[in-house]
Amino acid sequence: MRTLDDLDVDGRRVLVRVDFNVPLKDGAVADDTRIRAALPTLNELRERGAALILVSHLGRPKDREPELSMRPVAERLGDLLGAPVRLAPGVVGDEVTQLAHALHGGELLLLENVRYEPGETKNDPTLAHGLAALADVYVNDAFGAAHRAHASTEGVAHLLSQSAAGRLLEREVTTLNGILEDPAKPLVAVVGGAKVTDKVAVIDRFLEVADAVLIGGAMCFPFFKAQGHAVGGSLCEEEGIEPARAALAKAAKGGARLELPSDLVLGDRFGADAERRELDGVDVPDGWMGLDVGSRTAERYAAEIARAGTVFWNGPMGAFELAPFAAGTRAVAEAVAAAPGTTVVGGGDSAAALQQFGLAEQVTHLSTGGGASLELLEGKRLPGVEALS
Ligand code: 3PG
Repeated sequence: MRTLDDLDVDGRRVLVRVDFNVPLKDGAVADDTRIRAALPTLNELRERGAALILVSHLGRPKDREPELSMRPVAERLGDLLGAPVRLAPGVVGDEVTQLAHALHGGELLLLENVRYEPGETKNDPTLAHGLAALADVYVNDAFGAAHRAHASTEGVAHLLSQSAAGRLLEREVTTLNGILEDPAKPLVAVVGGAKVTDKVAVIDRFLEVADAVLIGGAMCFPFFKAQGHAVGGSLCEEEGIEPARAALAKAAKGGARLELPSDLVLGDRFGADAERRELDGVDVPDGWMGLDVGSRTAERYAAEIARAGTVFWNGPMGAFELAPFAAGTRAVAEAVAAAPGTTVVGGGDSAAALQQFGLAEQVTHLSTGGGASLELLEGKRLPGVEALS
């Protein structure tokens, strides 16, 4: 994979694909983690004399919805850089081309939401050519979108004479590949969340390379059902039962230890004011649902994490957004933050949990990619990365 070290950018226009797909609230950026994560690349390119044309998607617009405009992102980025960031009136076209060609070294233009163009998600060559016409050099720093073969992440990469990964994409790929290729041992994967089917491929991979795979969240119920336990009213993905059974069979044949919760916290319904009780065991009675792992499980998982040379964590242990059911996820987050080994956390809900507990700064690497980090760890090739090699 080519990096910024391979590029000559002085006095050139550089099209930078960033992942500024950030949460918005009341028309403003609610969490700027992804914008901050792109700053090293943007600062380096500006210091090296490049003019920057930035392109990102925001949400999944169907018809140029104004509430998915990049305007709030332009404002936040300008504040973070301490430099003006001009917002283009569209993605491609004559007016945008004129604005791009008028840029001087160090200046920035942010294109409108690239998914306003229907050709983006179709990897349409016309849109890719339109984007390429804006710049001399292409840099992809959008790790969170690298699993998408879209015009701005894949098509355009082949059309400019120089293209490379930005510093964020480089760090994400190196760190995540490092977990699989050369981890400090023991390697412990903590996998949680609601659905087995979302994570089955990554569990499968870790059963081959890790020493232990610790399961939490509602995805433990398809495992328990496969083992013949009662799950009561717990969220239990039916399509997850067979993959769970296959994972149990694979673990029984050797490789990583597959660990499941041994106690649970139950609620009589999903809500912060639900009646709560602790269950020593995993057979959930009717009328109750499992909403968190129990304290014994949390202690056992925390001890595994503390002993690990490398920890990968993706997915909460329970409904951490409800205070009475947050303890299991908090215990894992605290254990990961305190672990002496290398700690890597996948994006999405586990990143949100770390942030909620104020621990985001205390891990070795917090990925900005949810789907992208899982696909990379599953062993899939990411189109946005492949296009740069
Ligand atoms: C993400 O938020 O995971 C990325 O920005 C990708 O977004 P998408 O799932 O809409 O392609």
